[in-house]
Amino acid sequence: MDLSRQNSIILSITILTTFASFVKSSLPQGLQTLNISSEITTDPNITASFATDFGNLFNCTPGAVFFPSSPKDIATLIRFSYTSTTPFHISQRGLGHSAYGQTLVPDGILIDMSSLDRTNYNRINVTSNGPIPYADVGAEQIWIDVLNATLKHDLMPRLLTDYLSLTVGGTLSNAGLSGRAFMHGPQISNVYELDVITGTGEIVTCSKESNPDLFYAVLGGLGQFGVITRARIALEPAQKRVRWLELFYTDIKVLTSDEEKLISTGNSLSGIVDYLEGEVLFNVTQGLLTGSFNFSNSDVEKIVKLASENSGPIYLLNVVLFYNDTTATSVDQKVELLLKELHYTSGFAFSYDLPLFNFLNRLSFRVAATSSVAQCPWLVMLVPKSKVLEFGSKVYRGILNGFKGGRFFLLYPLNRAMWDDEMSAVTPNEEVFYRADFLWTSEAANETKSIAKKNKQIQNICEKYNFGCKEYLPHFTNQIAWQKQFGEKWEKFVSRKMKYDPKALLSPGQRIFTTLGIN
Ligand SMILES: Cc1cc2nc3c(=O)[nH]c(=O)nc-3n(C[C@H](O)[C@H](O)[C@H](O)COP(=O)(O)OP(=O)(O)OC[C@H]3O[C@@H](n4cnc5c(N)ncnc54)[C@H](O)[C@@H]3O)c2cc1C
Ligand SMILES: *[C@@H]1O[C@H](CO)[C@@H](O)[C@H](O)[C@H]1NC(C)=O
Ligand SMILES: *[C@@H]1O[C@H](CO)[C@@H](O)[C@H](O)[C@H]1NC(C)=O
Ligand SMILES: *[C@@H]1O[C@H](CO)[C@@H](O)[C@H](O)[C@H]1NC(C)=O
Ligand SMILES: *[C@@H]1O[C@H](CO)[C@@H](O)[C@H](O)[C@H]1NC(C)=O
Ligand SMILES: *[C@@H]1O[C@H](CO)[C@@H](O)[C@H](O)[C@H]1NC(C)=O
Ligand SMILES: *[C@@H]1O[C@H](CO)[C@@H](O)[C@H](O)[C@H]1NC(C)=O
Ligand SMILES: *[C@@H]1O[C@H](CO)[C@@H](O)[C@H](O)[C@H]1NC(C)=O
Ligand SMILES: *[C@@H]1O[C@H](CO)[C@@H](O)[C@H](O)[C@H]1NC(C)=O
Repeated sequence: MDLSRQNSIILSITILTTFASFVKSSLPQGLQTLNISSEITTDPNITASFATDFGNLFNCTPGAVFFPSSPKDIATLIRFSYTSTTPFHISQRGLGHSAYGQTLVPDGILIDMSSLDRTNYNRINVTSNGPIPYADVGAEQIWIDVLNATLKHDLMPRLLTDYLSLTVGGTLSNAGLSGRAFMHGPQISNVYELDVITGTGEIVTCSKESNPDLFYAVLGGLGQFGVITRARIALEPAQKRVRWLELFYTDIKVLTSDEEKLISTGNSLSGIVDYLEGEVLFNVTQGLLTGSFNFSNSDVEKIVKLASENSGPIYLLNVVLFYNDTTATSVDQKVELLLKELHYTSGFAFSYDLPLFNFLNRLSFRVAATSSVAQCPWLVMLVPKSKVLEFGSKVYRGILNGFKGGRFFLLYPLNRAMWDDEMSAVTPNEEVFYRADFLWTSEAANETKSIAKKNKQIQNICEKYNFGCKEYLPHFTNQIAWQKQFGEKWEKFVSRKMKYDPKALLSPGQRIFTTLGIN
């Protein structure tokens, strides 16, 4: 790669980006006279409520908040900034479920995407009568509403996230992952078409056939190339129920070998499982097991004993089968085969049967209970399969040795073949890679500091041993780190930025092409 050329690209973006110093409580001149029906406000009581996000780590009030009543008005706003001699930043915010201030915009205007839903009907249209079923949905829609609407047609999105109160535009700007992504790919692999408003204020419909470069740029594009206003989502027939197996392991090697068998083709267990997520469990106490699981008291005792006899963490493999037949014989047979061929710790297999909807929506009550002041310094690493055992021994048994935290340290494999390299989203360079989550929450500032230190140690381990990891929901504050994250995709990412948002107006909170005055 020609480094001097690349530097000049970065430089030119910086040069173009001389922004109006956005004076709080006063709108840039000319904005009030735009021919739009959307509301825009600088009322500090309102702007203050958009000053942080789910992570609660950064705090900074936007100059103004824009409540769009139509995609057209968003285009007018962006066009106004783009053609102004003193342009301002614009941040398109889904519901602010980001963890590191990605939706913040101290010197500009925040677009509250959810406002599109309040002022419009028909924001979810399901087409079930053609050769391929799909749903046209507003990007501000949350996945639970998309699911509910499609279930009325006995259909569901091919890929849902685990937590469903995330916006379509927000997850498509990252990737959209869950335990079903090994078979269907991430959500960005399950989209047919998008309406996008670019950083020049142009409204463009794009797909693999039409304006493909913009389509691929926006998918996993971290909000850098445009505002998605509509997405055509791939659907599949919805089954009625699920069988949920919870299998315990004490050895990461055995866990990962079973996981890999379940997600690969051409073996006796291929194609049986519809959803799979492994978890690393630290501090397996009675409290943990009665708090967020559904075990009987005697099972809880048994599992706590297993964990206490084991040095280091234990592992839980969640394996789920979707089914529809009332007699359930075929699902019983599949479960029997799984229990026979998988290598979980004998006696530690548990099974539940529940309606599909209850399974898909299982996290709603738990997230609602999360304290709004808790900080969430999350880290999600994507680790190449060939390095996952080394990663495990250095991280789970090294850095986190003796760690006493709670749940949601996920560890499960994905198939890279289901990702499209043209898209902006990045993955490790191996056919199978693991998603390793560190979804910490912290109530105390000093605890957040020590977690941040652990995150740094984990990042450093990946770096030092050249594991070739990438981050999911990445957060970096300097361009060198971003360049590393994007690797060989960096040059394309930059040139697409030049093409679709040449003044670097959009989503500055990602801090890829902008530095923000927040720390
Ligand atoms: C409790 C919880 C559970 C989660 N579970 C999962 C999970 O199971 N799987 C998973 O993959 N992720 C998960 N996430 C992460 C989630 O995908 C991200 O937080 C993502 O940002 C979606 O949040 P949001 O819709 O509120 O978007 P926001 O946080 O508001 O926005 C995220 C980024 O996308 C940009 N953006 C938002 N809307 C648009 C749009 N319409 N067009 C263009 N850019 C846009 C924003 O500018 C910003 O840069 C979870 C997060 C939380 C807090
Ligand atoms: C303002 O927009 C409306 C609706 O798009 C349009 O009918 C009207 O002509 C516009 N007015 C001006 C002055 O451009
Ligand atoms: C903001 O809220 C406070 C307290 O509710 C109120 O006194 C004040 O008038 C509000 N300010 C504006 C600009 O609405
Ligand atoms: C749904 O269909 C209606 C009627 O055709 C249309 O007005 C609306 O824009 C559509 N919504 C989406 C999100 O495509
Ligand atoms: C979705 O549908 C379920 C069951 O039909 C209902 O209980 C739930 O309230 C709906 N959720 C939303 C967000 O509309
Ligand atoms: C499930 O069964 C219902 C009837 O009970 C049927 O309409 C539907 O097509 C079936 N779905 C699948 C995915 O087989
Ligand atoms: C270990 O887990 C228990 C039960 O969830 C919890 O009460 C306790 O605080 C945890 N220990 C630490 C040090 O976090
Ligand atoms: C929890 O376990 C009880 C008893 O085994 C069972 O009746 C119930 O359906 C389970 N709940 C879920 C959500 O599976
Ligand atoms: C944080 O501070 C509290 C109170 O001062 C102390 O009890 C606790 O051990 C500290 N935690 C860490 C991780 O330093």
